[in-house]
Amino acid sequence: MTQGQVAEIPGANPVQRYYALHSRIYDATRWSFLFGRDEILHRVKAIMTPERILEVGCGTGRNLAKLRRLFPKASLTGVDMSSHMIEVARCRPELREGGATLIERCYDQPVHGDEPAYDLVLFSYALSMFNPGWAAAIASASADLAEDGCIAVVDFCDSRFESFKRWMQVNHVRMEGHLWPVLKANFEPLVDDRFNAYGGVWNYGIFIGRNTAAAPH
Ligand SMILES: C[S@@+](CC[C@H](N)C(=O)[O-])C[C@H]1O[C@@H](n2cnc3c(N)ncnc32)[C@H](O)[C@@H]1O
Repeated sequence: MTQGQVAEIPGANPVQRYYALHSRIYDATRWSFLFGRDEILHRVKAIMTPERILEVGCGTGRNLAKLRRLFPKASLTGVDMSSHMIEVARCRPELREGGATLIERCYDQPVHGDEPAYDLVLFSYALSMFNPGWAAAIASASADLAEDGCIAVVDFCDSRFESFKRWMQVNHVRMEGHLWPVLKANFEPLVDDRFNAYGGVWNYGIFIGRNTAAAPH
C-alpha cells in the first residue's frame, strides 16, 4: 500500500493509518518482539477462572483466540480502534459465530454499559500506544471491572538505548516506564515482573492486579 492510499482513510488518526498497513503483516511479524503474551495468559489462568473477559486493543484477536481455548465457557469481548485489525480478528474461526463480541472504537470510556462488569480486563501491548489516553484507559478499565476483578497488562517498559526508544516512538510506542507505577498505585499487585528482551535491548513487564475500585490517580 502506498503512503497516498493510507492517507485516504477518512477520519483516521496516525495509529489507525499505521494499522491499515500493519494489520496485513501483524501476526506474521509480532511473535519476534511482543514477548510475554502467552506467559500472561497462563499466569491469569493460575490465578482465576474469569467468566467475563475484555481485551482492550485486541488487534487481530490473537489473544482472544487463545483465551477462547483457555476459558471455553467465558464470554469474550474485544475492543479496538482500528477497523483493519478488527477485520482480521473477525475472520478467526475461534471468534466467529458468537465466539467473541468485537467492538470498533477508541477505548476512552468504559464499555460494559448495562451489562455486568468484567472479571478480567487485558491490555496486551496496547497501553504503550495510547498516547495520549493511557491514564484514561486505565481509569476506564477500573470502571469496567467488577469489584475484585483483575487487570492484566503485558507491555514494553523501557530501554537504555535512546535511539531504540526514538525508533519505537516512530512506531507510536512510548517506552518511558510510565505505566507500571500507575498500575501499582491503583490495583493490588498479584504479579509485577520485568523481563529483558534480546539481552537487554529493552525490557517489558507483566502486571496482574486486583481492582481496588479506587479512582486512578
Ligand atoms: C500492538 S497492538 C496489540 C494487539 C494485541 N493486543 C496483541 O497483543 O497482539 C495495539 C492495538 O491497540 C489498538 N489501539 C491503539 N490505541 C487505541 C485506543 N485508544 N483505543 C482502542 N484501541 C487502540 C491498535 O489499533 C492496535 O490494534
